[in-house]
Amino acid sequence: MRTIFEPFRIKSVEPIRITTREERQALIKDVHYNLFGLKSDDVLIDLLTDSGTGAMSSAQWAGVMRGDESYAGSPSFFRFRDAVQNLMPFEHIVPTHQGRAAEAILFSIFGGEGRNIPNNTHFDTTRGNIEASGAFGHDLVIEEGKDPSSLHPFKGNMDLDRLAAYLDEHGDSVPCVMITITNNAGGGQPVSLENIQAVSALAKAHGKPFFIDGCRFAENAWFIKQREPGQGERSIPDIVRDCFACADGMTMSAKKDAFGNIGGWLALNDPELAEIAKACLIRTEGFPTYGGMSGRDLEALATGLTEIVDEDYLRYRIRTNAYIIERLEAMGIPVVRPAGGHAVFIDARNWLSHVDPLQYPGQSVAVALYELGGIRSCEIGTAMFGRQPDGSENPAAMDLVRLAIPRRTYTQSHFDYVIEIFEELHGIREQLTGYEIIWEPKLMRHFTCKFKPLGS
Ligand code: F0G
Repeated sequence: MRTIFEPFRIKSVEPIRITTREERQALIKDVHYNLFGLKSDDVLIDLLTDSGTGAMSSAQWAGVMRGDESYAGSPSFFRFRDAVQNLMPFEHIVPTHQGRAAEAILFSIFGGEGRNIPNNTHFDTTRGNIEASGAFGHDLVIEEGKDPSSLHPFKGNMDLDRLAAYLDEHGDSVPCVMITITNNAGGGQPVSLENIQAVSALAKAHGKPFFIDGCRFAENAWFIKQREPGQGERSIPDIVRDCFACADGMTMSAKKDAFGNIGGWLALNDPELAEIAKACLIRTEGFPTYGGMSGRDLEALATGLTEIVDEDYLRYRIRTNAYIIERLEAMGIPVVRPAGGHAVFIDARNWLSHVDPLQYPGQSVAVALYELGGIRSCEIGTAMFGRQPDGSENPAAMDLVRLAIPRRTYTQSHFDYVIEIFEELHGIREQLTGYEIIWEPKLMRHFTCKFKPLGS
């Protein structure tokens, strides 16, 4: 196979400030070994998130200039709305400043004491918004989705038997059903069109509205095209439309698969719910023809939505992850397989088998990657999910380290460097120790908690 090169040229660059290992050891100690505390200037390759970190195209930047900043009725809003509705055929598009603002509005309607909301796996802000309303979030992904080595083609699928049992058991306390495409917290794994439609049918049979968290809808559609029988000859926009046609609404972070640096939306079909949502939008974000965004953001997203469904882009995008994973696997480093859409996930629990899950093996790997190579990654495991609502601490389903790949931002040689750092780390992994948490906030502790290496 020929090299699949980046299908773009670079017009504007951002220099990377080179640091030494000693500097980085001091910098990470200063921020109590929490990578969210680092200044981005002190990072060489920033794989903390793929959210808002993508490079915009020249056409998007041209759109920024065209943005109309009128308070009401801006043509930029209508271009944005049309671009969304071209892919996601919902009646009402409510623009927010990012995905979590859309979630906050949705759960101001559907949340509340004692309610139960199922998903394949709730992302942390989704869960945070649900729990802040007094409701409970439950994760019903298929068993294969929790096994890092399973090669199931759609490891983000909802477990339909468990969902049916859940809907019977919780009855009226379930206000809506959700599914997240791709399943970020479960390794960026896709959900099949068949599964989305089956979840929709189950929700309908129980009289529940069905919502899609569509952050990475284009990557999900690419996997459907590649892996789902009967989908290979269909266009990405057609597959995307089918995914959303069976839903009653969606939440979206436009910082992912809309190529935005900021933005999001809540979409709804029900006119009464849309009125309630817009009233909340006006109170918390802005007037409905801009919501949480400026006219220039709306323009950038309208163009981004046409670029993200390009097959040459998606082929390169997904191939990048597979390239990294193939090389890590060849060294014997355990990774989540098959490669996900937006990120490479290292199975840290398996790789550092000498570190107990309650000593955060993922955090240990993430800190070592920074000290050794200036690479910023993110623990997605017991540090993120281990604290239970009753205050106890349990190992998460998996201890993963996520290398999220910003869109169109780094080149293949950046990833070759990352692979070299992994090679070095593999040789010394047995010397890595676990961590303890010496301070944490009440909610979403991983952003601000303080760690201490064990034995230090
Ligand atoms: N849903 C999913 C599946 C997400 O991945 C995110 C954000 C959100 C909702 C919230 O969107 O950030 O625009 O408010 N994920 C980022 C990440 C932060 O790094 O995975 P937001």
